[in-house]
Amino acid sequence: MQLTNRWVLITGASSGFGAAAAEAFARAGCRLALGARRLDRLAQVTEICRKTGASAEFHELDVSSTASVSAFCQWLQTLTPRVDVLINNAGGAHGLDTVAAGKDEDWEAMVQSNFLGLARVTRAVLPLIPHHQGASILNIGSIAAHQAYEGGSIYCGVKAAERSITQALRLELNGTGIRVGSLDPGMALTEFSDVRFRGDAARAAQVYRGVEPLVAQDIAETLVWMASRPPHVNIDEIIIKPTDQAAIHKVHRRATV
Ligand SMILES: NC(=O)c1ccc[n+]([C@@H]2O[C@H](COP(=O)([O-])OP(=O)(O)OC[C@H]3O[C@@H](n4cnc5c(N)ncnc54)[C@H](OP(=O)(O)O)[C@@H]3O)[C@@H](O)[C@H]2O)c1
Repeated sequence: MQLTNRWVLITGASSGFGAAAAEAFARAGCRLALGARRLDRLAQVTEICRKTGASAEFHELDVSSTASVSAFCQWLQTLTPRVDVLINNAGGAHGLDTVAAGKDEDWEAMVQSNFLGLARVTRAVLPLIPHHQGASILNIGSIAAHQAYEGGSIYCGVKAAERSITQALRLELNGTGIRVGSLDPGMALTEFSDVRFRGDAARAAQVYRGVEPLVAQDIAETLVWMASRPPHVNIDEIIIKPTDQAAIHKVHRRATV
């Protein structure tokens, strides 16, 4: 399916998967509405998108706030009456604590962004998504939704919730022609671990030690592929991991000096 001139809304477009997806959809000829909290970074991503010749605009968006989502949607409707592809990407992990040592602020941040934020944005944008024209809602999940790990309890829980919302939404929208899918990545080199370890770069680097992880472009290309299937094809769920990662706990690491 041709994506030219389709409107694509991406949450969490200021870095990582969201930024790479913005550029990939721009190269596919789409028009972009980008949201995140860091406006300086959004401005940079928007500039990169515009260099491809695409039209791209950005606005502040904190998915953890209903007021912010509403303000974003008001702005959005000054740009376009329709959204053809909604990419719910904003989120991430905060901390790697056991349940016994977990902190309220980390738990709340993860629930608010990955889980409630996805629901809030979807609820607000759904009235703008056209029926029977090959539109898509693509949610970024994680392999954490499929397998829990020590220290990942709340993050695994919110990504499992993302999976459930995706499945429920697909049932609720059956008959509208709106496709609903989840893209569930494994280990990928973005700012994910910097955020998880609160800027502790050495600890973040350990996550990827001796491994060839996914990069954001791997996810971006897959999102473009999902959105560009013919309208009668719904890609329900894709799990994508680095070849070095057979499972969350089974990672092949090369010797490093
Ligand atoms: N990298 C991995 O290994 C991996 C694996 C599986 C799944 N994921 C998921 O992939 C998604 C993207 O993460 P990433 O790897 O690309 O990490 P990243 O580089 O840290 O990007 C996260 C993005 O989410 C945005 N964000 C976070 N909280 C937000 C909020 N409350 N409101 C609006 N935007 C918010 C951030 O923007 P601002 O800070 O500017 O708001 C940023 O643009 C996340 O949902 C993450 O859980 C990542």
